Amino acid sequence: MKVLVIGSGGREHALAWAIAKSPKCKTLYCAPGNGGIAQVAECVDIAADDIDAILEFCEDESIDFVVIGPEGPLVMGLADRLADAGVKAFGPSSGAAMIEGSKGMMKDLCTKYDIPTAEYARFDECDAAKEYIRAHGAPIVVKADGLAAGKGVILCRNENEAYAAIDHMMIEDIFGDAGAEVVIEEMMDGEEASFFALVDGEHALALVGAQDHKAVFDGDEGPNTGGMGAYTPARVLDAAMTKLVMETIIEPTIKGLAAEGTPFQGVLFAGLMITESGPKLIEYNCRFGDPECQTLMMRLKSDALELLLAAADGTLDKIKPQWHKDAVLSVVMATEGYPGAYEKGSKINGIDAAEAIKGVTVFHAGTQRDGDHLLAVGGRVLNITAMAPSVAEAQKKAYEAVDKIDWPEGFCRRDIGWRAIER
Ligand code: AMP
Ligand code: GLY
Repeated sequence: MKVLVIGSGGREHALAWAIAKSPKCKTLYCAPGNGGIAQVAECVDIAADDIDAILEFCEDESIDFVVIGPEGPLVMGLADRLADAGVKAFGPSSGAAMIEGSKGMMKDLCTKYDIPTAEYARFDECDAAKEYIRAHGAPIVVKADGLAAGKGVILCRNENEAYAAIDHMMIEDIFGDAGAEVVIEEMMDGEEASFFALVDGEHALALVGAQDHKAVFDGDEGPNTGGMGAYTPARVLDAAMTKLVMETIIEPTIKGLAAEGTPFQGVLFAGLMITESGPKLIEYNCRFGDPECQTLMMRLKSDALELLLAAADGTLDKIKPQWHKDAVLSVVMATEGYPGAYEKGSKINGIDAAEAIKGVTVFHAGTQRDGDHLLAVGGRVLNITAMAPSVAEAQKKAYEAVDKIDWPEGFCRRDIGWRAIER
């Protein structure tokens, strides 16, 4: 098959790396890809959201299967356009992708189909939003309705913070159109986990669970990021919890989306809060998590391409993926300054030395090749990913590899996996 992966992050490097191993994959392209993806796929200079150019490329190269990594092109309707053109693709239609594209729509779906989530209300008018905050008190959570690159959620400890959040979003427009409408919701307490299920419109197949670290600094301090590290397995998502999540959250969502006329095909990523009264949905994403995907692809023993194809073909009920028993842990190395402003173009060395450690793979998230040099061109830049019999051993190995990387402008958290290791 001729396969095209869309995207340029560590998630897409891991997907391309796993797909390239499939005997079914004859040629692998990635648009636009990055300095690491270039080692496993032919990178083509087309932006992930340039839908017309992607369609033209698929036609010119007779692409058999497109795997769409990021949410942006999904919400914009890339999967719909590919379907119209008769090109098979992994990823939901723009209608189904709205479970990530509109937090309000996702919450209304939860209400209608009785899916456990935080109590909430939606507002497109700032006085009414503030009135709701006054009536409910703090702590309280204010969320921009639309896509805001993972930054659109503000956890407010007191009412003044909540009023300020409303002003930032609805008056100062810090998230542009994404903040024109807001969701205000109850603050939930518990342990967070990342739950993934492949969905083919009708059937859902749970993958192994993972946990992510959103805050930028050790001890979960500092502003939120896209994710500074992840590991699998997640102890909280044991077999019983997985079954409960499938029955109370994933299955009703799939039935609901189908009943609404927008059946979901692709990967449904539920951000969960495991509370004292059971698992509750924090948010849905219509794509793999990043960096969770890197850990999942390394733990996957089965053919990744076959699995993604089964979602697109509607045959997930006939497939049972095999996983390595070992744990996998991934440490994100980012450019100094991230998630705020950072410089581009610093030189990275030592990746070969890091990968010389058995069980270590370095996925690239924001790199570019420039002759003999590898340059950092993003906020999150490298994902140092290691497999070992336990999370503690995988952590040790991953940091051993991090220490081989020669990149003075980079930094990482030093405590990825702490929760699992403390247990
Ligand atoms: P989101 O972008 O929706 O995943 O939210 C970012 C982070 O904010 C989540 O990973 C949680 O840590 C936190 N969060 C979001 N909603 C809530 C909530 N209702 N209660 C507690 N924490 C929340
Ligand atoms: N790591 C969380 C996310 O991809 O949204």
